[in-house]
Amino acid sequence: MQKGLKREIELYEKRTPRSKQAHARALGRLPLGVASNYRAYEPYPLFVREGKGGHLWDVDGNEYVDFGLSFGALMAGHSHPAVVRAVESRLRLGTAYGMPHDMEWELAEEICKRYPVDMVRFGCSGTEATMHAVRLARAATGRDRIIKFEGAYHGLHDAALVSVKPRLEDIGSVEEPTPVPGGAGIPPAHVANTLVASFNNLPSVERQFEKHPGEVAAVICEPIMMNVGMCMPEEGFLPGLRELTRKHGALLIFDEVKTGAKLAWGGACEFFGVRPDIVCLAKSIGGGLPLSAFGAARSVMDLIGQHNVFHGGTFNTNPISMAAGLATFREVLTREAYEHVDRLNKRLLGGYRRVLESSGLKACVVGAGANGVILFRATPVRNYRDWLEVDAELWRHYWFGMINRGVLSQPYGRDEQWTICVQHTEADIDRHIAAFEQVAPALAQTQSGTVQVGAAR
Ligand SMILES: Cc1ncc(COP(=O)(O)O)c(C=O)c1O
Repeated sequence: MQKGLKREIELYEKRTPRSKQAHARALGRLPLGVASNYRAYEPYPLFVREGKGGHLWDVDGNEYVDFGLSFGALMAGHSHPAVVRAVESRLRLGTAYGMPHDMEWELAEEICKRYPVDMVRFGCSGTEATMHAVRLARAATGRDRIIKFEGAYHGLHDAALVSVKPRLEDIGSVEEPTPVPGGAGIPPAHVANTLVASFNNLPSVERQFEKHPGEVAAVICEPIMMNVGMCMPEEGFLPGLRELTRKHGALLIFDEVKTGAKLAWGGACEFFGVRPDIVCLAKSIGGGLPLSAFGAARSVMDLIGQHNVFHGGTFNTNPISMAAGLATFREVLTREAYEHVDRLNKRLLGGYRRVLESSGLKACVVGAGANGVILFRATPVRNYRDWLEVDAELWRHYWFGMINRGVLSQPYGRDEQWTICVQHTEADIDRHIAAFEQVAPALAQTQSGTVQVGAAR
């Protein structure tokens, strides 16, 4: 391990003994000591006491400016007053009905105003939204296969958990990536139905269509691939996908679980001016409560209406999540909120770029909407394979350096990115930049090899 990283981890352990204790206890009852694999990291994860606005406190009482924001699910920030009011006003009126109520139509209206869909159904997680979208596309086309992009994450169902973080030695050529199951327990028959293409590479998509004529139900894509830091679509890529899917009679699914609420008022569809067939939403649309949705044209959603495709869920549209969702759409994610967050993100990106220049650290920053990321490589990534070249050890040094200076710069994981919430202020952004200013010289030193000791992990 490099010296600088080692120092930061020692400091982390000194500052967070209660997290260490809590994790040791949790290990006895929860695999990895956490409730989602994404939350586990060495030496142990921070355990949280509370969150408020754009800030977070760990169980040792350390305070952080929070740009992790629950893996980007909190563009509203923690406990936004409008969300709290809405939830409190419903809490004593029942927390689950398993029966219809008016907020369903109201929230569906809000969604249809923003995204190019006629009808929606709701769920509680992004996984559900993409799972139902894939099933709908299969039913609409009578075909079984889908095309996804290497490195893209669309949740935990079998069709999606293919080539999420495959190892370089397993992935074949960039023009024709080999599908790799994302862990044990995924039947090979499911993997066979998930074809894999390379992001920003239309010929690799076309190749899959040509190899499997008349068999592809849909292309599922995150308009900005956000589980490899941030991978922007190159000019023409998304319109190209639109054309290819039309040409081959397949549907285009936009997984807007991350981009839907955070990129722009009307999500990636508005931002890039591309109209997919199915839109999936989750994370930030619920203002911090579990809420997801998928929507499409009436002709596609009618497959559910005509009892051809089954969709259900006991906690779908529970009144607490729906009240939170309504407050989020009406009072939190306003046009003005996007301007505020955009301004703050520009300030943060500008700050990072200045520090990179003054410190000599070789990295690049990418950002859009409420999100941004520093990538420890010379140029932005075009696809998953570029992202594999990001310096993992340096990233860890960065993350622990930032957390030790009171800034949760992004969720743990070099595949993640920062989120700015509507409750962040310029002072929060300046604190983030100041922390990076302190950490960057040591990163630059490590990068130039002047303090490297021992073998990399
Ligand atoms: C793009 C994308 N799609 C789907 C999901 C799955 O959402 P959930 O964790 O709510 O099931 C995620 C989660 O990170 C995501 O980033």
